[in-house]
Amino acid sequence: MNVSTAIENRRAVKHFDSDHKMSRKQCEKLLSTALLSLRSFKIRNWHFVVVDDPEQRKWIREASWEQKQVTDASMLIILCTDLEAWEQEPPHCWHPPPESLREFMVPAIQQYYNGLDQMQRDEVMRSCGIAGEALMLSAQSMGYDACPMDGFDADAVGELINLPENHAVCMFVAIGKSIGEVRTCEDMLPMEEVVVTDSF
Ligand SMILES: Cc1cc2nc3c(=O)[nH]c(=O)nc-3n(C[C@H](O)[C@H](O)[C@H](O)COP(=O)(O)O)c2cc1C
Repeated sequence: MNVSTAIENRRAVKHFDSDHKMSRKQCEKLLSTALLSLRSFKIRNWHFVVVDDPEQRKWIREASWEQKQVTDASMLIILCTDLEAWEQEPPHCWHPPPESLREFMVPAIQQYYNGLDQMQRDEVMRSCGIAGEALMLSAQSMGYDACPMDGFDADAVGELINLPENHAVCMFVAIGKSIGEVRTCEDMLPMEEVVVTDSF
C-alpha cells in the first residue's frame, strides 16, 4: 500500500475485534517503523508503553472514560515523552556524533529550550504526534486500523504506568481489526478554508 492510499483509507476506529491477536513480529514491525520518525534535534524524548496485561488495560480504560478501544484493541501503545531529554548530554542522538556537529548542536539545543517550559512541552508533543501518525499509517499499511486517543485522565494513567518524573503522557494509539461499519472519508476540509497563501 502506498502512503497516499494509507492516508486516504485511514479512519479513527472506535470498535475493535477484541479476539484478534497480533503476532509479536507484527507488533515489532509497527514499533520499528514508528522509531524511524523524526524528532527535533534528534533528541530521544519518546517512550512507547505497550500495554499487554489485560488487568492493566482495564484500569487504564477506567481512567479513559470507559472507552472500550483501550481493552478491545489488539495493541495499546501509550506515547510518553521525557520533558527534559533536551538537557541530557546528547551525543548519543547522532550516529556517529562527529565532534563538529556536537560542538554546534549542544549549545544550540540549550539555547533553544533553556527556560522555555512551554516550548519544551510543545516540542515533545509535536514529536509524539508525528510518531503517532507513523504508527497509524504503518498499521493501515499492514491491514490494521487505529484510533488516536487523548480522552483520558493523564495523571491517573501516569500513576498506573509508573510514569517517571518530568515525563508526560501524550496520547494513546490503539491498533487492531475494525469491526462494524467502515466509515469513508467524506469530510475533507474545504481547501479554501484551510490553506492560506503567504499570510492571513
Ligand atoms: C488528538 C486526538 C485525540 C483523539 N482522542 C480520541 C479519543 O480519546 N477517543 C476516540 O474515540 N477518538 C479520539 N480521537 C478521534 C476523533 O474523535 C475522531 O474520531 C477523528 O478525529 C475523526 O477522524 P477520522 O478522520 O479518522 O475519521 C482523537 C483524535 C485526535 C486527533
